[in-house]
Amino acid sequence: MSQPLILVEIDSSVALVTLNRPDALNALSPEMLGSLAETLENLDRDESVRVMVLSGGQSVFAAGADIKAMASASPVDIYLRNTRQLWQRLWALDKPLIAAVNGVAFGGGCELALGCDLIVAGEGARFGQPEIKLGIMPGAGGSQRLAKALGPYRAMEMVLTGDPLSAPEAHAAGLVNRLVADDQVLAAARELAAKIAERPAVAVRLARQALRYGVEHSLREGLEMERRNYRLLYDTADQKEGMAAFIEKRKAKFKGG
Ligand code: CAA
Repeated sequence: MSQPLILVEIDSSVALVTLNRPDALNALSPEMLGSLAETLENLDRDESVRVMVLSGGQSVFAAGADIKAMASASPVDIYLRNTRQLWQRLWALDKPLIAAVNGVAFGGGCELALGCDLIVAGEGARFGQPEIKLGIMPGAGGSQRLAKALGPYRAMEMVLTGDPLSAPEAHAAGLVNRLVADDQVLAAARELAAKIAERPAVAVRLARQALRYGVEHSLREGLEMERRNYRLLYDTADQKEGMAAFIEKRKAKFKGG
């Protein structure tokens, strides 16, 4: 029987999702991306889950889109595969997604990490967009998200040379939230996830939504979204509880509504 491409483990309100194609360094075939999108969407709808962690296992995050599945493709083949829609489903999730990166996050693997909300990386991890060495360019957000995350000059160098950033370099550049020993990546990602999972769930989702929206839109539009979500939170029980607890000098008991 063939192994599942995606593994899921739920502990408390944190879901750990692991890419499981180690023989091909988790190369993202359309099938793998489809399974990933479906899995994450199901977890996004699961009320018992607050935060998702995405890992590629202990030695690799993902070595990119599946080159063997693309080598002889025509533009129409690529269009008909519609992996664009699969990527958009990943970017449309509503709950926080933390990338836990060991080893290489190259090409589509780097783009997968960049599509997450937070990145925890091991000291031996590397982030790169090597597509230029294959005669193509990033096609799943790399040229846009890297420029926003690192600034256009560093991103341009990465995209035009194909040379990766080491995890310490990525951390210094602001791309990595937590830099830890390689064998501590999952523990650190879980710890970060557990902390966010304890926060009022609706506030977490609306704050995340405003922040992500702001990165993709103008400041004026982002400010509007921020204000709308901010006002909406005054309709949650957790806002009443959070402020009452502050005034009564006690620890808040959030219910997630
Ligand atoms: N696609 C398909 N198969 C891949 C792959 C990929 N992206 N990356 C690795 N593999 C396969 C290899 O072909 C090899 O399979 P076989 O054992 O059957 O030969 C296996 O995984 C192990 O890989 P290596 O032997 O190459 O392992 P290594 O440790 O020597 O090198 C590596 C590791 C430096 C990551 C190297 O595998 C590599 O350079 N991979 C390709 C990285 C890349 O170019 N990614 C961009 C892809 S294009 C893209 O992602 C487009 C986009 O924007 C969406």
